Amino acid sequence: MVCLGNICRSPMAEGILKGKIRERNLEIEVDSAGTGSWHAGENPDPRAISTAKKFGIDISGQVARQFSVYDFDAFDHIFAMDSSNLRDILRLARSKSDISKVSLILSYLPEINLKDVPDPWFGSQDGFTEVFNLLDQACDAVIDSLEKDFLQKD
Ligand code: 4NP
Repeated sequence: MVCLGNICRSPMAEGILKGKIRERNLEIEVDSAGTGSWHAGENPDPRAISTAKKFGIDISGQVARQFSVYDFDAFDHIFAMDSSNLRDILRLARSKSDISKVSLILSYLPEINLKDVPDPWFGSQDGFTEVFNLLDQACDAVIDSLEKDFLQKD
């Protein structure tokens, strides 16, 4: 899960997806990162922590880090929160295989007609709740798709 700062959107997405993986008894590794390095080493924004907590998810222990080219080797799927993150990730891609791993997370929700997860950083707490709900829907679609992939491989 990749956003800009790795302190608002992608930490919530990481926490949500991990929760769904646990509920379904799956074994899938999930991590998050930011395309920027300004917040590396920090815990998520307090508004992201309290929003996730409201929905029973603890993201307070996450530590921000910058996305790196090695993430293409470590992960099968890379979900960008918005088009600008997508561009920055693709700039680091070394091969067609790297490129094929990257998608916009909201492409998993074609019915909602929104490309980018809004950046809640400059907004209010309500913005964080909206983003959480959006990511919760998107993560349902992502995990359905991952499960389908696994079943096809068996
Ligand atoms: P995020 O939000 O990309 O969802 O973590 C942001 C956090 C910090 C900044 C921008 C976006 N910033 O400009 O510092």
